[in-house]
Formats: sequence, structure tokens, C-alpha cells
Amino acid sequence: MPLTHTKELFAKALKGRYALGAFNVNNMELLQAIVEACEEEKAPVMLQISKGARGYANPVYLKKLIEAALSLSTIPMAIHLDHGNSFELCKDCIDEGFTSVMIDASHEPFEKNVEICRRVVDYAHQHNCVVEGELGHLVGAQFDEGEAGGHYSKEGNHTNPEQAVDFVKRSGVDSLAVAIGNSHGAYKFKGAQHLDLGRLKAIKKALMDAGLGDYPLVLHGASSVPKDLVEEINQYGGKMGTDTAGVSEADIEAARRIGCTKVNIDTDLRLAMTAAIRKVFFENPKEFDPRKYLDPARAKVKELVRHKVRNVLCCAGHAFD
Ligand code: G3H
Ligand code: 13P
Ligand code: ZN
Repeated sequence: MPLTHTKELFAKALKGRYALGAFNVNNMELLQAIVEACEEEKAPVMLQISKGARGYANPVYLKKLIEAALSLSTIPMAIHLDHGNSFELCKDCIDEGFTSVMIDASHEPFEKNVEICRRVVDYAHQHNCVVEGELGHLVGAQFDEGEAGGHYSKEGNHTNPEQAVDFVKRSGVDSLAVAIGNSHGAYKFKGAQHLDLGRLKAIKKALMDAGLGDYPLVLHGASSVPKDLVEEINQYGGKMGTDTAGVSEADIEAARRIGCTKVNIDTDLRLAMTAAIRKVFFENPKEFDPRKYLDPARAKVKELVRHKVRNVLCCAGHAFD
């Protein structure tokens, strides 16, 4: 099965009101777990690779591993660069055949962000590749200082709906990563905090009203940080804090219904893998055959991905739509 273009995957996801899982790949076991889970669930999938993953595994190894996965599977798969931090990195990935890249210039002032994204878009579109941009800062659900009076201020960390329209129109990006209280990692919230779904609706509506249609939005930081995985890690010798917190699956489902078409998950895969490996070492400290701990680790990640695509993202069964 050749790579499927992200544009096609997004169009189908928007029509079917499901979300694509964008899972981070760093090594063979993670890739096998993700692809086997999606194959069994008949789910289309986005495999995403960060700069750190390229540094860890070597881009050639990752490319060859994905070629192997493609040759052994029937489901649609796209390859995406996660958080590209420069034009040069995006260009390398486009030249290597990625179907999609993210240019993350969200830390730059607005005009600079537009300019950097525009440059990547111009190159990507000449090479049959689509681009994800980001507007706003993934600082979590803390009080947004730019929001005095409850308005969606343009100076705050979270994405401003009107500015999102301007950004999409001028940068030409094909999808937009939003900041609505989301953040990366295993410690996302303090207490019972939530995504700002009202803001997500306002962004979607502003894009629609501006004639950009059912525009694809991307939710980063979508791990749920399941308590049972954290407990398992700690039960078997880990020391994760008591303040771990993720996005509730209910919030992710709501975001999917509003129109988050791509949902990024990495931390939950890391937790599943770590829990399984710790369990083997704890129960059998004499073990030193990597297959004996990587096999259960792969199985646990696979189980988690199956759950996500079936029960949260609802993309299971849509591979051959
Ligand atoms: O957004 C962060 C992703 O989880 C990738 O993390 O840069 O450590 O590979 P990484
Ligand atoms: P998590 O840390 O919540 O898994 O987010 C991953 C992500 O956004 C990758 O870009
Ligand atoms: Zn991210």
C-alpha cells in the first residue's frame, strides 16, 4: 500500500466526523504497535516524526521502517513531520517524501510566524505536500493574561479566532494547530481543568464564516495520561508525581465533534511502553533479553492505540471509506 495523501485523509475525516490519530513514532516497536492496532481496527492513521525522533533513530531507519509497515499493511497511512522548527528541516522531510509537515513558528511574533509558514507552504505545495501551522502557545489551561473582560484577546497565549482567519489566509497553511488550554506531556492541568471548547467552536465558526469551509483543526497534547498506567509505573518502581493529568477522553470526543480532525498522541504511548517494561524488570530482575520486555511493551501500546481509534477518535472502520 503506498502512502496516502493527508489531504484525502482530512477530507474523509471531516465528512465522516471522525478524527485521525497522529501517533509519534520513535522506534520499530512503537511503529509496529500503532500500525498493527490500526490495521486490526481498520483505521486510517498518521505516523508523525519529530526532530527528536529523527535524531534518535536516524531518518533513514525511520523511512525504511515505515516502508516495511506500508508493504505489510492495507490501511491508509500518511507520514507527517511533528513540530518542524525550521524551513530547512521541513524541506528535508518534503524531499524525503513526507506527505505532510508541521512548521511550528508559534513562538515567533504573528507576522514572523506568517512569513515562515508562507515560505514552507510555497515549497511544500510545489512538492505535493501539505502544511500544518500553529497559532498560540501550548501553555495549558492556566489563566490567559490576554483575556481581560473574557474576550478572546490577541495578546493571550490561546488562539484568537479572528487572528486564526488572518493567519490561515495569509500563510496558506492547510491545517491549524490551536492552543485552547492544551499542552504536551504528563502534567497538563492543575485540578479539574478542561480544554476551552467554547474557543474551539469560535475558531471553527470564524474560519467557516470567512469562507474557509470546514477547515481542519489540529489538537496537540491530546494524551489522557491514564491513571492506571501512572499507577502501574509507580507500582513497579517508577516515581511519577501525584499531579499527573491529561485531557479527558470526553473533552477529546467533544473536540472531535467540533472539528478537530487530527489528534496528536505521544505521551500515552510512552506511559504504556514504560509501564510494561517496568513490570517485566520488577517481576523478573534477572531478565536481560530485550525481546522479553519489548514484546509486552509493544503489546501494551497496541492495546492503547486500539482503544483510542475505536472509542475516542472513532476512526476505526473508516480505512476503506
Ligand atoms: O510534541 C512533542 C512530541 O511529544 C514529540 O516529542 O520532541 O520528545 O520527540 P519529542
Ligand atoms: P501529548 O504529550 O499529549 O501526547 O502530545 C503529543 C503531541 O502533541 C505531539 O505533537
Ligand atoms: Zn505537539
